[in-house]
Formats: sequence, C-alpha cells, structure tokens
Amino acid sequence: MKLLEGKTALVTGASKGIGRKIAEVFAQHGANVAFTYLSSVEKGEALEQELQSFGTKVKGYRSDASKFDQAEQLINDIVAEFGTLDIVVNNAGITKDGLLMRMTEENWDDVINVNLKSIFNVTKAASKVMMKNRKGSFINMSSVVGVQGNAGQANYAASKAGIIGFTKSVAKELGSRNIRANVVAPGFIKTEMTDVLDEKVVAGWEAGIPLKRGGQPEDVANACLYLASDLSSYVTGQVLPVDGGML
Ligand SMILES: NC(=O)c1ccc[n+]([C@@H]2O[C@H](COP(=O)([O-])OP(=O)(O)OC[C@H]3O[C@@H](n4cnc5c(N)ncnc54)[C@H](OP(=O)(O)O)[C@@H]3O)[C@@H](O)[C@H]2O)c1
Repeated sequence: MKLLEGKTALVTGASKGIGRKIAEVFAQHGANVAFTYLSSVEKGEALEQELQSFGTKVKGYRSDASKFDQAEQLINDIVAEFGTLDIVVNNAGITKDGLLMRMTEENWDDVINVNLKSIFNVTKAASKVMMKNRKGSFINMSSVVGVQGNAGQANYAASKAGIIGFTKSVAKELGSRNIRANVVAPGFIKTEMTDVLDEKVVAGWEAGIPLKRGGQPEDVANACLYLASDLSSYVTGQVLPVDGGML
C-alpha cells in the first residue's frame, strides 16, 4: 500500500543520512518529493536522479535552511514547481560539539541557527501554504539529546529541546486548520554524523540501549512515514522517540 500517493513533501537536509532515506521512503510511497542540501552538491544531484525510478516528481534544491530569505524563496519555488505542499520534514542539522568551557560563540550560533532557527524559517513559510489548503503535516527532527541532555553537546541539546517546545506550540496554533506538527527524536543512528564518534564511546552507548544496537536511517524514515501519512491523522504535538528504548 502506498501511503503518500498524491501528496507533496519537502525534506530538508536530504543529501545523506536520515534525510536521504526519508526522501527515498516517501518517493517509494508515492509522494512527490522536494528536498534540500547545502554543501554536498554532487550527492544532492545524484539523489535527484536516483529517486526518478519511483516515478513521482522529484527535485533537489540547494538552500541554506538557516537563512530566512532562502527558506521563503525555497517554499515559493516548490509551490511554483509542484503546485502545493502537504508535508514538511525539518531534518537538516549539524553538530559542533565541545564542553561548555571551550565552546565558542560561533559554535553556539551555528548550531542554533542550522538546527533551530531553520525550523522557524521553513515552518513559517510553509504554514502559509498549508493554512490555505487547510491540511498539512510538519515533522521536526529532534534527538534524545534534546530530552535528556549530553555532556559536550550543550548547543546541540538546546537546539533539539527548542524544537520540541516550538513544535508543541505550532501544533496548538495550527490544529484548528487541520495542520499537525510532531517531533521525531532519534537515538543513536548510524550516519556520517555519528561516524566521527570514537568506537569505544559508541560501544558504551550501544551497551546501554535496551535493544543493544544503534538504529538505521530507515528506522527513522519509517517513523516519519507514519507521521506524514493519514495513519496518524489524529496525532499532533507528540514526540516520538526512535531510539531502541534509550529514553
Ligand atoms: N545520526 C544520529 O544519530 C542522529 C540522532 C538524533 C538526531 N539526529 C538528527 O537527524 C538529522 C539528520 O542527521 P544525520 O545523522 O542524517 O546527519 P548527516 O548525515 O550529517 O546529514 C545532515 C544533513 O543536513 C544537511 N544540512 C546541514 N546544514 C544544512 C543547512 N544549513 N541547510 C540545509 N541542509 C543542511 C546536510 O546537507 P549538506 O551535506 O549538503 O550540507 C545533510 O544532508 C539531524 O537534524 C540530526 O541532528 C541524528
């Protein structure tokens, strides 16, 4: 069964990792998919080609989600190209880890701007389209770290906790227009973002996960598929952990 037939989705930060898999699973389920990337231009262009095989409309955009003007332009371009927008997955994210005593102002600002301000930018622009349509689903990518904190990630944890407060507020504001907003909170997922971590640190984390393993991008993509589809039509303002039981 194709769960997103006839719907148009935007996935931010889809050149690799979790976002890439979300774009793939959505196209597989019949969605027309717009997606963004920033520095990984070749990977973004390759994904656009690859997703053509599912037979839906797919287009990649080079767009910096942390920039308000670019987000607004992106949504205008998508509506001009696709005609509408039903689903937004705010997935773009970065880490710039360091203990508080060594964390620079720049590392704080960069992480807050890319992970949190981006969600304001894209959601504000996209909600205008959804309000006219009187339907829509926002899925915002947080992290278990946004719920429980993590030493060395004060900037990242603050951005991911902010996403939860933002999403719950938007769910309350836009619910009467039939627009839902939910959060996915992944635990430890194997991607380029986590490839940089020390093997011993990873082994320690995995030992503490009830399912005793890290997750795959597909695990997160399937949770997004549920929240994007009508299967979750009475679910809004929620945080769905995809973490092997970590939380
Ligand atoms: N992996 C995990 O264990 C884990 C756990 C919890 C939450 N998450 C969250 O899940 C999301 C995806 O993580 P991932 O592991 O897939 O990371 P990843 O492999 O590093 O991919 C990050 C994606 O974000 C894009 N991006 C970064 N800055 C951007 C910007 N300013 N504008 C637009 N796109 C931008 C990157 O595009 P370019 O490469 O083209 O710049 C890339 O496509 C992030 O929000 C992350 O915080 C991940």
